[in-house]
Amino acid sequence: MTPFTYQDHVLHCEGVPLAEIATAVGTPVYIYSQAALQQRAAAYATAVPSARSLVCYAVKANGNPTLLQILRAAGLGADVTSGGELFLALHAGIAPDKIIYSGVGKTRPEIETAVRAQIRALHVESEMELRTIESVAQALETEVAIGVRVNPDINVVTHPYISTGQHSHKFGVPLPVALRLLRLAADSPHLRPLGLATHIGSQITDVAPFGEAARFLVTAARQLAESGIRLQYLDVGGGLGIDYEQQNAPAIAEWATAVTEPILQAGYEVVLEPGRSIIGPVGALLTQVVYTKNQGEKHFTIVDAGMNDLIRPTLYSAYHPIQTVKQAAENGDLLTTNVVGPICETGDFLAKERPLPLLQPGDLLAVLQAGAYGFAMSSNYNGRVRPAEVLVDGDQFRLIRQRQGYEHLLDGCA
Ligand code: LLP
Repeated sequence: MTPFTYQDHVLHCEGVPLAEIATAVGTPVYIYSQAALQQRAAAYATAVPSARSLVCYAVKANGNPTLLQILRAAGLGADVTSGGELFLALHAGIAPDKIIYSGVGKTRPEIETAVRAQIRALHVESEMELRTIESVAQALETEVAIGVRVNPDINVVTHPYISTGQHSHKFGVPLPVALRLLRLAADSPHLRPLGLATHIGSQITDVAPFGEAARFLVTAARQLAESGIRLQYLDVGGGLGIDYEQQNAPAIAEWATAVTEPILQAGYEVVLEPGRSIIGPVGALLTQVVYTKNQGEKHFTIVDAGMNDLIRPTLYSAYHPIQTVKQAAENGDLLTTNVVGPICETGDFLAKERPLPLLQPGDLLAVLQAGAYGFAMSSNYNGRVRPAEVLVDGDQFRLIRQRQGYEHLLDGCA
């Protein structure tokens, strides 16, 4: 259920008309629904039994501190992928034993920080990394819990940039190496092998490859158990897709049950790392029409949000639904238009050849399904300040990140 609905012909987030937010904080602005966020987090909590599972929200999808605090209150842990994300997760009050750290390139200082924070586990992606963690643990005279990220060589249908589970990708290690690294960890006085993890990709709307990944992990763990190493948990990663364009994405409960069942039945705890499926449908980017024009065969609607605010259409040819804030008359005229931003690149578009009602400067458009990898991937390109973020709760709303001012463009400069 989307929190963005028309009431009296005006698009609302929960009980707040979007125009009211535009008037109060300006555009472009990301708007999130607290109720929808809590409902999606609860869907995970209900689908997987908490005593034997941990849902680690992938902070990379959206690291806004207020949103992280809401997810913490809902009982979620965090999957972090950098020292910065670890900082954000700890800052939001997420308990260290609910934090796992994934990523192929953790630096020694990042590893040191994670070890000192006593997070649940670092997920190792190479032998060199394992040796670095061991040496940090030795220097700090401690024992560090690790998982190993295995690359199961499973092909999935998604954009090639976000498919991660094949041997040609940089992620994880092949199974024989994963087993060897876990045995090395078992033999080290400074390492404790706790889990086996994988993540096959993102925006996947078919449950089957996830089931395959879960069974792959179970088989590998059993193999390991035969050699006397008993793992505590298996981690299927994230990757559940959402409906950008009628993809018929499975519901959270369906996905979570399919991936957790084989693991729980085999007697292991489960870790999941969902990002997009929690936060994606909860957020929209509100933007305002600046100009319109006809050019050659094409019609352009120029808005005040650009690829620096939402890069997904440019980077992955991603489709995001766009709705006018003023509901168009049923059977009203539609014009096929290209919704573009102010940035000096032809790739700066939010939608191509999209049928929309006739628009005038000042009209507001909501780009939906933008809660995940929206603000998180924004930048200051073209000297543009990063947008504001607003949280809606019932008929109230509040700023949870100020729009940057031009002074931010000088941050840290000589
Ligand atoms: N765990 C790991 C190790 C990951 O690398 C990712 C995402 C996740 C969990 C969360 O996956 P999710 O549930 O959100 O699919 N910027 C791209 C998506 C990149 C995903 C990177 N890794 C996009 O906008 O589509």
